[in-house]
Amino acid sequence: MKEISVLDKTFKRFKNVEEINTSIKVIAEKINKDYEGKTPLFLGVLNGCFLFAADLLREITLDCEVSFVKVASYKGMKSTGEVNQLIGLDRSLEDRDVIIIEDIVDTGNTIENIVELLTKAGCNSIKIATFLLKPEAYKKSIKVDYVAMEIANKFVVGYGLDYDGFGRNVKELYVLKD
Ligand code: IMP
Repeated sequence: MKEISVLDKTFKRFKNVEEINTSIKVIAEKINKDYEGKTPLFLGVLNGCFLFAADLLREITLDCEVSFVKVASYKGMKSTGEVNQLIGLDRSLEDRDVIIIEDIVDTGNTIENIVELLTKAGCNSIKIATFLLKPEAYKKSIKVDYVAMEIANKFVVGYGLDYDGFGRNVKELYVLKD
């Protein structure tokens, strides 16, 4: 479909399944080379990563483990700001080579926070694989190691990404119509 409606908004098709698959194969090949002889732990960040993680991992030929986390934010007792916590971690990350799987890196706030939280867990190394990166919006200095696609600073849905909870199951990527 060329256009879809998600809630009150209209989105137009932006990337088809073939373009998505090709971009993922490119980074999977890089990861397979970079981690030769290692046993990385892929850590998907839910909810948005579920389709990307499934497609990326199908192309990974390394011995590896796969786990998923969610970022939960709550108001700290004394702190004025929000405190974030990773929930669902089911194994020790000590000395592990961790590859975070994200759906999208926008300003970088979320990924910076996740890396901070993981750094405390004593990983041997931490790298980031993301389906999408918005370079114009990205404001952090952390290197985003594996990027399937760079996109303009526009709102997208589909392929795991949502608009207010909807659109995640759409198999292609759509961009908000101006
Ligand atoms: P950041 O912390 O600004 O990098 O934003 C990361 C989070 O914002 C992602 O994990 C998404 O949940 C959400 N997000 C940012 N841009 C988009 C978009 O274009 N579509 C859907 N969600 C987005």
